[in-house]
Amino acid sequence: MTELLTVVGSANIDTVIKVASPPAPGQTVLGRGIERRPGGKGANQAAAAAASGVPTRLVAAFGDDQAGETYRTRLNDRGVNTRDSVIVPGPSGEAIITVDDRGENSIIVIPGANSLLDPDSARFHLGDTPWVLVQLETPRATVQAVITEAHARGAKVALNASPIIPEAHELALQCDLVIVNEIEAAQLEGVQDMCITRGAGAVTWGDEIAMPRPVTVVDTTGAGDAFAGALVAATAAGQSRHRALETALNASAVAVQHEGAQPWRL
Ligand code: RIB
Ligand code: NA
Repeated sequence: MTELLTVVGSANIDTVIKVASPPAPGQTVLGRGIERRPGGKGANQAAAAAASGVPTRLVAAFGDDQAGETYRTRLNDRGVNTRDSVIVPGPSGEAIITVDDRGENSIIVIPGANSLLDPDSARFHLGDTPWVLVQLETPRATVQAVITEAHARGAKVALNASPIIPEAHELALQCDLVIVNEIEAAQLEGVQDMCITRGAGAVTWGDEIAMPRPVTVVDTTGAGDAFAGALVAATAAGQSRHRALETALNASAVAVQHEGAQPWRL
């Protein structure tokens, strides 16, 4: 199977806690349940790409803990090629996520292994897919190395500029496609090819405009990741912008209707 997309990015173990509303400073609230789930923007995007039927590789750093081993193996079993992901000393990345009654989340990320995904190993494992997708949850120098190396190999690079960082603009200017929400877009003026999501509002990509279909929101965690992963996968598979947007909106509609960033538990 020829792989079309390499996602270089983070893999986190998400601890998801359901609350009526997240605690304000100094406040204590009761949680309604706690679950360990697969997460991390890189892994979420790779999973969405693979779920859309496009053969996808993930280059991420997992810790040498049991959780990292379980996560990497199970992602691979679910169709994401993780053989070129690396195992580094120390704990895997983690995220603590509260999801409130409206399905909105608050997230704290503890990068762990993700901060050890260094430029050399990312370059070494980059592979030869025609498209590469990166986000900003791994070190900035690693993202830069991936962009430079992918272009040197003739590949196109898509950046999901999330979470937004001061260096995002400089990185975005070097990419072939930038996928962001409207808050992130405000910091990326002058970037050429941007696909901008607006929650339940219209998505724009150049001249293309598409509306998400109305759905009952369970948990918005991972919706942006599902959108980005599916959009770049569809593009790598040769779909038109119009079709790629439909595919991506379908993936994010599915993502907001299930708990967690990916539809399974660890
Ligand atoms: O975008 C959602 C993701 O952000 C979560 O899975 C969490 O791990 C953080 O990376
Ligand atoms: Na979700």
